[in-house]
Amino acid sequence: MTPGLRDTELRRIVGARGLAAPRVPASMASYVVGLSCRACCTTLPATRLTNTCPTCNGPLSVDYDLERVGGVLDRTTWASRSPTMWRYRELLPLSDPAGAVSLGEPITPIVPLADAGDGGSNLVLLKDDGRLPMGSFKARGMAVAVSRARELGAARLFAPSAGNAGAALAAYATRAGLPSRIYLPESTREPFRSWPAALGGETVFVAGTIRDAGERARAECGGDGWFDVSTLREPYRVEGKKTMGFEIFDQLYGRSWPDVIVYPAGGGTGVLGLTKAFAELAELGWAEKLPRIIVVQPDGCAPLVRALEDGEIRATPWTEPTTLAPGLLVPAPFGSERVLEAIRASGGAGVSVKDAEIVDAMEILQRRYGISASPEGAATFAGLRVLRDKGTLRGGETVLLYNTGSGLPFSINLLRASLVAAPEP
Ligand SMILES: Cc1ncc(COP(=O)(O)O)c(C=O)c1O
Ligand SMILES: [Zn+2]
Repeated sequence: MTPGLRDTELRRIVGARGLAAPRVPASMASYVVGLSCRACCTTLPATRLTNTCPTCNGPLSVDYDLERVGGVLDRTTWASRSPTMWRYRELLPLSDPAGAVSLGEPITPIVPLADAGDGGSNLVLLKDDGRLPMGSFKARGMAVAVSRARELGAARLFAPSAGNAGAALAAYATRAGLPSRIYLPESTREPFRSWPAALGGETVFVAGTIRDAGERARAECGGDGWFDVSTLREPYRVEGKKTMGFEIFDQLYGRSWPDVIVYPAGGGTGVLGLTKAFAELAELGWAEKLPRIIVVQPDGCAPLVRALEDGEIRATPWTEPTTLAPGLLVPAPFGSERVLEAIRASGGAGVSVKDAEIVDAMEILQRRYGISASPEGAATFAGLRVLRDKGTLRGGETVLLYNTGSGLPFSINLLRASLVAAPEP
């Protein structure tokens, strides 16, 4: 039996609550009852622009009146609506869903990878978020965060980015009619380097990693109506990322429900999005057996995997991080306690893979299955063999690989050449 997440445990981790009272929904169209901090139990209204917890500076989470949602929807309602991420609007935070800033976000396909198991007995599926606007899952979080920020009166938006988040922020902010500024590591390669500016954002290049870019951004954008949409430093990007879990539920529940989800983690916000989605589904009584979440990181920057292996409650910053997967070059993930707790509570684990294995996986996915996977997404395929060798993946289990981005911005040949130039750590 899979040690699925228990409902109460999930709620404790992600702060999902089915509050009946006393907090009042922001509007009748919204089921949001407020924001809360899991670390110190501070609660506050969701009706103002807010970044982190005013008491302890921890991430804030959005609470819904799930009882009321359960009263107006049943398990099949969403599937009958048009196939975009906005079909989950009751569990998204907009007061007015008609005000959503959208670039046309489709429900992304889940494709079976025949014989991916090297002769093993596992059914291997891949969810392909490379088909979202700007080619990555970052569209989910940014679509919701930008929509909500505009609704609450933000004048300008900024965030650090390894590439994909920057493109998504610039695209959604421009669509919303808001200026955006994206802080990128100086080492960011094309097309991610010039993409945000081409999409109407302003770019600032910073020496070091995304951590340094984030510090510079927060130092420079203190006033003037700038609003920080960095990962976990505002409550709504995670809400958009929940749609990954809602779609998996919509697409696979009662069919090929996954025992395991393999996710490429940088900061790990996607893990929190998936976990919060499953917690809310459990609270609604719609899903019981929840998948184990396994994170994959490159062995040149694997702070979450190391913390999982060493039994640490928070990740220790990784010194001299290196990987060719830009979105996984996150040496000091903010909010790592929650990410680690969520993975552990799911019965999950972490594995690391070599950059060379990631490039091989990109090539196999492309040639054998016609799937264009980013290095981050391909890392999940590379992780399959390790999971099987370690016995983490058991025979007969269904495993869902999460491809978080398209491989189109990358050249496999150039990535291979850079491997030779900079040998593995
Ligand atoms: C394609 C891709 N995959 C994965 C990640 C890591 O995301 P998370 O913050 O959920 O760990 C990123 C972040 O930049 C990314 O761009
Ligand atoms: Zn707090």
